Amino acid sequence: MEQTFIAIKPDGVQRGLISEIVSRFERKGFKLVAIKVVVPSKEFAEKHYHDLKERPFFNGLCDFLSSGPVIAMVWEGEGVIKYGRKLIGATDPQKSEPGTIRGDLAVVVGRNIIHGSDGPETAKDEINLWFKPEDLVSYSSNAEKWIYGE
Ligand code: GTP
Ligand code: MG
Repeated sequence: MEQTFIAIKPDGVQRGLISEIVSRFERKGFKLVAIKVVVPSKEFAEKHYHDLKERPFFNGLCDFLSSGPVIAMVWEGEGVIKYGRKLIGATDPQKSEPGTIRGDLAVVVGRNIIHGSDGPETAKDEINLWFKPEDLVSYSSNAEKWIYGE
């Protein structure tokens, strides 16, 4: 089953939005298969955002991601990579639709509270960067047959 990497950034954690964000993925019907609290080092943040290293905001972005606890998660489900991004909303909260996580809960692009992988390749790379294979739990839940049908 498809998996994606989702992280609640330090601003989301400090603002007490962990349960709000987790519940949106959970209520949708996606399955949490890995979760941990971690303060990433600056070097680790630079690895995570390596494809943005030429951007002017790269240094500030990496300082910010490493400034406090992050909730790192792997969510599983049909279409979870693309739909996860939909739940999250546009990068700039000024442009995110109401009803999305960033649209409802954030105001500026530099403090947009959540990260989500942007495609199958980055999902794989980011899961491997943040987690060891044995950190991912494979399980079935009774709700699945009600979410997907028989
Ligand atoms: P992530 O899920 O965090 O990867 O966001 P994204 O995929 O919606 O956007 P992108 O990967 O292009 O940028 C990564 C992060 O850099 C964003 O979430 C923002 O926090 C930050 N960022 C992007 N564009 C800008 C910008 O123009 N200014 C500032 N200050 N930060 C930006
Ligand atoms: Mg991105």
